Order: sequence, then structure tokens, then C-alpha cells
Amino acid sequence: MQQNHRVNFGSKLGAILAAAGSAVGLGNVWRFPYEAGNHGGAAFICIYLACVFAFGLPIMISEFIIGRRSKASTGEAYNVLAPQTHWKWVGYMGVLTGFLILGYYAVVAGWTLEYILQAAIGGFSGKDAKGFIRMFTDFSQHPVRPLIWLYVFVLFTHFVIVKGVKNGIERSSKVLMPLLFILVILLAACSITLPGAERGVEFLLKPDFSKVDGDVFLGAMGQAFFSMSLGMGCLSTYASYFSRETRLGATAISVGLIDTFVAILAGLIIFPAAFAVGIQPDAGPSLIFITLPNVFQQAFSGFPVLAYVCAVAFYVLLAMAALTSTISLHEVPTAFLHEKFGFTRGKSARIVTGGILVVGTASSLALGDWSDVTLFGKNIFDALDYFTAKIMLPVGGMMAAVFVGWVLDRQVVRDEVTNGGVLKAPYYGVFLFVLRYLTPIGILAIFLNELGCF
Ligand code: PHE
Repeated sequence: MQQNHRVNFGSKLGAILAAAGSAVGLGNVWRFPYEAGNHGGAAFICIYLACVFAFGLPIMISEFIIGRRSKASTGEAYNVLAPQTHWKWVGYMGVLTGFLILGYYAVVAGWTLEYILQAAIGGFSGKDAKGFIRMFTDFSQHPVRPLIWLYVFVLFTHFVIVKGVKNGIERSSKVLMPLLFILVILLAACSITLPGAERGVEFLLKPDFSKVDGDVFLGAMGQAFFSMSLGMGCLSTYASYFSRETRLGATAISVGLIDTFVAILAGLIIFPAAFAVGIQPDAGPSLIFITLPNVFQQAFSGFPVLAYVCAVAFYVLLAMAALTSTISLHEVPTAFLHEKFGFTRGKSARIVTGGILVVGTASSLALGDWSDVTLFGKNIFDALDYFTAKIMLPVGGMMAAVFVGWVLDRQVVRDEVTNGGVLKAPYYGVFLFVLRYLTPIGILAIFLNELGCF
């Protein structure tokens, strides 16, 4: 164990941005819109917001407490805080979850590289909606091209992980996050003003609760965990690098707000654009790769240079946002192998990278040649997404809440939340109540409802 050598993030802002870098990624811009589209739009978003407050924030603070207190990555954190108990399995499950998520997340991250290339060589120009649909299907079903991009992306992640993450993550997040915000706001404004965009805005803002069923709740809960990087110990691993002065509550609220803000803005880009060009909002994982290039073409049709620059800049930033998330996912199993088995960081990272390449290859091929290989009726890509986001993350998050709410010494929890009595923490009582009752019971109720128990 490395406790004594642990380096801290340089500043409070650095800690917030690193955690936000993990949270903001393809989950916001790629996954949120298609989950919302599949589950009816505005009603989904309302339930999503409820999940962010009832589950997301309390669990994020819990993960921060677990990480900062144990000063260990998630795989070992429970071992440190509750030695000789079965709680360690929660940590191990987090490690496995991170590995499996990376196995399909990296495939989509690879797609962003193809789209940078296409944007840069003018591959978008002159295409209409049908052209973009074809472009995406031809590419994602191709047996080789998506694999090459997957490998490039995974190797890039590997490189950053081996080179030492903290300075890299902290510094690049400080520049990239603000740039991403600006571009996302600009694009949302363009999308809303496309002719015919009103129906998209309505879809996003006018809830129709008559369509809400158990699936919508499970989808919104899974999305909240996925988007905020919760339930697998990613943020608890980052929190092990937090300094004593970092305010856990304020950091969690900032990260939650930033993440939600980017997701809603991404919705404001995608749906108006989708309706404007007549693409169904439930088009699934391909949604942003079809509607977005269209936004660039249509919104800036009189200004080809602007269309070009925005398209290239957007995919570059999306790839960067994905990279700060893939790094945080890779860090969890890598730090675990390093701490648990004493492998060097380099060797641990190589083992993880090797495994990701195998799982990633399978999930990429699942969208083309291997589409008939199924697990529980889903192709490998969809199965990985379903089990990790909708089951493993909520279970892991619920366990973190129960652990901090019921198992960890009350004094330790108070000490962490108030930074050893320095902060006032006026909402401490509410936090503890939500964590002990509302969060675990709410998550359990959504599972039981999905299983048809009521
Ligand atoms: N939150 C990241 C995103 O939205 C994905 C992620 C999930 C990262 C779980 C780490 C852990 O893209």
C-alpha cells in the first residue's frame, strides 16, 4: 500500500475539475440524449434530476469520504476501513465494473476519432440526414476501422495512465472543461434556431408522465450513476488524492451541477436538431453521430469555414472529454492491481490495457459481424452497457451509501464532512438522513419495481 507517498491534487479547483473531468464525458453528450430519447424525453429528464439529488449527490459525498479517509483506491478502500469483512467485495465489484464499462466506452471514444478525421477532411460536406445515417452504419459495422480507432484510443489512455495522471488530468481539465462549455452553449443556440426545431425543444421540456414505467426509472437511475461516475469507486479513488482542505459537500455539488448542465445542454443540441431533420429521437447509440454532423451542415450552411471549424473543434473536445473519463476508468483497475498485488504501475496498466483490448474488440464487433452473439438477448455491446449502468453501478452506489450511513463510525463521517470540525456543515443532518434511508430504499424500490414485485 502506498499511503505515505500519495500525492494530492494541487488545489481545490483542481480536485473539482478532475472529478468533473471524470464525470463529464460521452455519458453526457452521447448516452444521455439517446436514453432520454428512448424513454420519452422530458418525463425521463425530471426523474433523472430527482435521481441526481436523491441518489447521486449523497453517494458522491459517500465515495469522497471513503476515498479520502482510506487513502486507497476503491479496490482496497473497504479493506482499510472495514478490515476482515465482506465489504471488500464491494470494492472488487467496482474494479470489475470499471473494467467492463471501459470495454464498450472505449469503442465509442474511438468513434469520436473517426469523426474528427471525417470533419477534418471535409467528409461531412454535401451530406443530408440519409447520408449521415449511411456514413455511421457503414463505419460502425466495418470489421476493421472502428477497431483501429479503439486501439488508438486505448493506447492513448494507457500512455497517460503510465505517465502519471494527476498533473496531466488536473492541468488539461482546467483548459478543456471551459472550452467544452463554451462550444456546447454555442451549438445549443444554433440547434434551437434551426427551422422546425420547436418540436425538439417541446420533447425535451414538456413532460408526458403517462408513458412512465419501471424501465424509465431504471434508465434514469442508471444514467445518473453512469454520468456522475458513481457506484464503482472511480470518484472515491480520486478522492484518495484530495487534500485535507477540500470541501467534500461543495465539491460534490459543483461536480453534480456541472455534469447535469452539460447533459441538459447536450439534449438541447441533439433533440431540436433531430426533429429539424426528421430523425427519430430514439435512434439509440448512433444518435449524436448522425444528428450532430447535420447541425454543423445546416446551421452554418452559408458559412462553410465556420461549419468546418466548429465540427472539428467539437469532436476534438468530445474526444478529450472521453479521454478524461477513460483515464478515470482505467485508473481504478490499474491502482487496484498495483496496490493489491504489488505489480509496478506500468505492469498493472499493461494488464488492464490488454484486457480492455479484448473486451473492446468483442463489443465493437458486436455492432457488425458478431451481432448474433447474444447474452440475455442483447448483443455484447448492449449487454455490457445494460449490466454495468443499470445494475452494477446502482448496486455499488447503494452499498457505498449503506456503508457510510450505517457501518462507518459516525465520528469519522462527521470529521470528513466538516474537515475535522473546521466547516459548519449545516445540512449534515439532512445528508445523513437521506443517505441512511432515502437513497438505499429508493434504489431498492426501483429494482423491485423493475423485477415486477409491485
Ligand atoms: N461519467 C463518465 C461519462 O459520463 C463515464 C464514467 C462512468 C466514468 C463511470 C467513470 C466511471 O462519460
